[in-house]
Parts: sequence; C-alpha cells; structure tokens
Amino acid sequence: MTTGHDVSFRDVLRSIPTRPSEQPVLSATGAPANPLHLLRSWLEEEADRGTHVPHAFALATVSADGAPQGRTVILKDLDDEALWFASSARSPKGLAISENPVAEAVFYWAETGRQIRVSGPVAPGPREVSDADFMGRHPKARAGVIVGRQGTERPDPDEAGSLLRDALAHVEADPDDVPGHWIAYRLEARSVDVVQLRPASGGERIRYERGDDGWAVVDLWP
Ligand SMILES: Cc1cc2nc3c(=O)[nH]c(=O)nc-3n(C[C@H](O)[C@H](O)[C@H](O)COP(=O)(O)O)c2cc1C
Repeated sequence: MTTGHDVSFRDVLRSIPTRPSEQPVLSATGAPANPLHLLRSWLEEEADRGTHVPHAFALATVSADGAPQGRTVILKDLDDEALWFASSARSPKGLAISENPVAEAVFYWAETGRQIRVSGPVAPGPREVSDADFMGRHPKARAGVIVGRQGTERPDPDEAGSLLRDALAHVEADPDDVPGHWIAYRLEARSVDVVQLRPASGGERIRYERGDDGWAVVDLWP
C-alpha cells in the first residue's frame, strides 16, 4: 500500500545527487590491456584522493541451494590475474564458495562515479598466504576469528566478552597458532565490467573477457 510517507521518501531518494566529478572518458581502445591494471590504478587514485576504505568491495556468492548472497569484504591483494580477500571457511560465504567456487566482486567509488565488477572462479590460496594474513590482523580480530563463528548466534554480552578475553589470552600466549579455517581466497578474473559515469548524465561501460589468447575488451551500452 502506498502511503504519504512512502511518497515523500521517494522524493528524498530522487533528490539525492548521484553524479560524479568530471573524469577521463573510458573506452575499449584507450583502456589498459589487463583490466586488473585498471582496477589497480583506480584504487590508487581513490587512495590518493583520500576516499574512505576504497578497497572494500561487495562480494557475491551463491549458496549450495542457489540463493544469492552478498556482503562487504576488504581487498587484501591484487596481482595480474586475481583479487585476494580473506575470511573463514566456516562462514556462510566460505561454505558457499566450497559448494559453488565462483564469485563476483563489485567496487563502487561515488565521488568518481566508477564501478568495477570482477567475476570468476574462487579458490583457497596457499596455506602460508592465509597464515600471513591472519598474523597481520589485530590481536582482538584474531581472537574474534578463533572464538566466534561468523553467522552463528552470539551468546549474551557477558559470555561473549568472557570467551573473547580467553581467546585474546590464547592469542597473546601462542601468537603462531593460526586457525586452519582462516583462508586467503583467490578470485581469478575471467570477466571484468567497468562503468564510468559522467557528471550530467550517461557514461561509458566496457567489458573485458578472458580467453585462451588473453583479454578481449569491447564497449557496451551503459
Ligand atoms: C567495510 C567492511 C569490511 C569487511 N571486511 C571483511 C573481510 O575482509 N573479511 C570478512 O570475513 N568479513 C568482512 N566484513 C564482514 C562481512 O561483511 C560479513 O558480515 C561477514 O564476513 C560474514 O559474512 P557471511 O555470513 O556472508 O559469510 C566486512 C564488513 C564491512 C562492513
């Protein structure tokens, strides 16, 4: 049912500016041959302009029963072929990846009006990369991974606090103990879709597909 409140909220939504500052034109002919080089240079630009957490992205997976699932994670590394992120293999996303080892990453930067989507197969990286990621986390974050299974019900604050304190004491006493379910995942880029919005309206969109001979890129209607 439509109410007056809904109508005014629609007006509020419509009044929010969505257009970015002026940016260079994006085209298949002018774009880097490797789309992950474009992702890297856009991330560097966002970091330079002081964008808050520009390396956070939406990670979409598909559960065992076919349900779409999205959540935000942090980019941990980027090489010429893949994106890296880290999480627990026991989390809903970890379980989804073990059943359906594919994912899509979506980056969006509002000030520059840019979006990059990267999709492809996902696999756990080498154990030493996962261990190094875990060791690089804040001790409290490590304690949280040890004691709290993502996506399961948390006990009351007193009990949760006590479990966390015990886990923190364990982390401090045995800093080399890495839980085997902490994984650095590698999302291999097979398809990359890039959008650049324009200040007034419209914009450009290109799509890269990776074949046996490397990357092919075309212009798309945005
Ligand atoms: C900005 C931001 C960054 C996050 N980064 C991570 C991350 O790198 N790894 C992670 O496991 N969860 C991260 N989270 C939490 C996830 O969004 C999510 O709540 C959690 O991983 C459980 O997801 P799941 O139940 O789908 O497995 C982040 C959340 C936010 C808001």
